[in-house]
Parts: sequence; structure tokens; C-alpha cells
Amino acid sequence: MSLAGKHIIVGLSGGIAAYKTLSLIRLLVKNGASVKTVATPNALHFVTKLSLQTLSKNNVYNDVFSDINDFSTEHISLADWADAMVVAPATANIIGKFANGIADDALSTIFLALNKPVFVAPTMNSRMYENPAVQQNLQTLIERGIHMIEPPIGELACGDEGKGRMEEPEVIYERIAGFFLTSQTFSGKKILITAGPTYEAIDPVRFIGNHSSGLMGVCIADEFANQGADVILVCGPSAIKSKNPIVKRIDVVSAKEMFETCKKHFETADITICSAAVADYAPKQIAEQKIKKKDESLVIELAKNPDILGYLGEQKTEKQVLVGFALETENEFLNAENKLKSKHLDMLILNSLNDEGAGFRHQTNKVSMLFANKETKHFELKSKQDVAKDIVNEITHYIF
Ligand code: PMT
Repeated sequence: MSLAGKHIIVGLSGGIAAYKTLSLIRLLVKNGASVKTVATPNALHFVTKLSLQTLSKNNVYNDVFSDINDFSTEHISLADWADAMVVAPATANIIGKFANGIADDALSTIFLALNKPVFVAPTMNSRMYENPAVQQNLQTLIERGIHMIEPPIGELACGDEGKGRMEEPEVIYERIAGFFLTSQTFSGKKILITAGPTYEAIDPVRFIGNHSSGLMGVCIADEFANQGADVILVCGPSAIKSKNPIVKRIDVVSAKEMFETCKKHFETADITICSAAVADYAPKQIAEQKIKKKDESLVIELAKNPDILGYLGEQKTEKQVLVGFALETENEFLNAENKLKSKHLDMLILNSLNDEGAGFRHQTNKVSMLFANKETKHFELKSKQDVAKDIVNEITHYIF
């Protein structure tokens, strides 16, 4: 697997496994990558600056304040230059800094400035590795989309047996190369995704909403971004965050806002996926003040919201791919087929509230996919991350 043209920052913190990182740098360079190294002062107790410079064929960046030749902010220009960063070895100390936003050396400063994929290969004594503080920091990083290269079980430098040894350079290399290989599938493609609920204001305090958490759409956005796409996520009110920093999120509240935002981005989108649970109706008038409790009943007149997916289906060109969702409670397939046809979709993803673990709020979903060529595929109940992988996979076959 070649990494020709890829720019990789190799970060080293102070662990004995730093000697193995020299082989990793060789592998990266041999396979076409341009490598720049960033070392903490402690890392340079284990390997020399000269070794890093010679193998990477570039200067070593190890001090935020010295080595400034051109007075540029080097941590920013390095972050702009990179396609990815790998931190190996990553000690408990540097993992703690990454997880808590501490920037007190060159490596932790670059980490904060970087919005590219980061691979972290932890190394430490197994008791340190299992310490709840370290585990919590690792979990935080995983939740933020860091690619963790777990240490294998084996003999440690201190003589103990356990988990904490840095993974071998060849395995780390394969993880990075594998990432770029899959990530190329959608590179250059622009993907527009809607997700989450919409809130339709009744007065300054209340709204009409629904149970969508936004997870399904966020997972789809992350999966496309993992595969190199340029992703715009138009998201209703949702606390779920993307794991992939490449996803450009635009937060909206109401269906009308979601509609206006989608209209702006649809024309240049290659693929659009509408997974949002959009309110079909909104209060005709939004009361200026909080509505007071008076009568036994209250009537709120609702007006139809724009059908975003329906509108996009009418605008769509031959080259564009449009995918919709259907959340049904009865006559699932009949309703789904009607939506596929009436909204001019290429593909429709059906989930039913009659299936345990499917639809709103759950971490899981169970879907069927209906295609414009009348084909239908059924999938098992699985995590929404895996459902997103299936969706992206089907779109790959469908499109390419
Ligand atoms: O967010 P989660 O908690 O993870 O839950 C995921 C989900 C259940 C919200 C998701 O899997 C899903 O089913 N999304 C679509 C929900 C929905 O509103 O379905 P619908 O059958 O009412 O709408 C059909 C399609 O038209 C959808 O693609 C919807 O985004 C779109 N639509 C609907 C109304 C409207 N005014 N504009 C639209 O674009």
C-alpha cells in the first residue's frame, strides 16, 4: 500500500518504545510519505534528534519557542501541512495532555491545532495502562474520533507481562495505510446530510419536536468523512457530536431553517442523505409572549412545512444521488415504496418503530433499503455506526 503524496507528522513522547518509531518512520518514507517529526524533550532521551532528522529527511520540531527561522507560527503551519498525525510512543502523560487540552510542549500544542486524523499508539506499564485515569483519558480521545492503536499483550520493558507494549511499527503502518486506502473512496465527493429533529416554536418557551437524537445522521456523516468525503451535516437540535473533525456541521432549529440551508448546499452536492426527522407542520403563528394557562383547551393552528426531501427530489440532476429515510409505524413497505417513487429518490432507508431497538434514541437500528431499480435489501439489528457503514457501502456499489 503506497502513501505517495501523503504528509504525516510522527509525534514521539518519552518511552523506551521510541526506538521502534525509527522503523515506523523508515516504513512511512519508504512507502512514499513525507514525514516530519515532533518530539517531546523526554522522547529525545530515548532517540536522538539526528536519527529522526536523518530518517525523516526533515528537521525535528521539539520546542515551541526556539528553532524559529522565519517567525511563522510553526505549530499552525505544520498542522496545515499534515494529512494525518501518528503519536508513537504515546505515554500516559501525553495522552492525559491530549485528553485535557493541555498545550505545554511542541507535541501537545500541535495536537490541539490539528483538525486531521490522529493515530495514537499508547505505551506504558500495564498497571499504568489499566489505571482508571488513563482509561478515562483514552476513552475521551476515542469519543473525539482519535484512532487508537491498542497495545498488544506481551512482555514489557520493566519485565512485567501485560497490556502496555507499543504495537509493532508494521502494524501501525498498516493501520495508517489502511485508513488512507478506504478514505480515498469518496475523496473529492461532496455529501450533504440532514440529521436530528426540528423544533417548531409555539411561543418563546415551547416547541413541537420529536424524539430524534441525531445519532443516525451523525454516524452517516462520520462514515463518509472517514472515507475521504467533504461532508456538510445540517443538524437539528442534538447533543451528539461528530467523531470526525472533517465533518462541517451547520446547526439549525426549525424545518424552514433546515430547508434554506439545504437549498444553499444541494446544487454542489454529489450525494444527499436526508435522515432528519423533520416536523411536517409548524404553528402558523409564534406567540410573542409565553402563552398563559386559561381555558380548558387550547387550539394551535398548524401550517405545512416545506418538504425538504420532496423539493430536493424535484431539483435533482441525473448526476446527483438522493437518499431518503422513512420512519413508519404501519404498512411499512407500502409507505416506503410510495416515498421512494413520489420523492424521486435513488434509495430509501426504512426503519420501523415495530422493530425492537430500531428508530429513535436507540444506539441500534434495523433497516431495509429500497432502491429505484425495485431491489430491496434487509439488514439485521446492529449499532448505528454499523448501519452507517452499510448505507455508505450500498451507496458505493450504487454509484461507482
Ligand atoms: O436520530 P436518531 O435518534 O438516531 O433516530 C434516527 C431516525 C429514526 C430519526 C432516522 O433513522 C429516520 O428514520 N429518519 C427519518 C425520520 C422521518 O421523519 O421520516 P418520515 O418518514 O417522516 O420522512 C421521510 C423522509 O422525508 C425523511 O428522509 C425525512 O428526512 C424527509 N422529510 C420529511 C418531512 C419534511 N418536511 N422534510 C423532509 O425532508
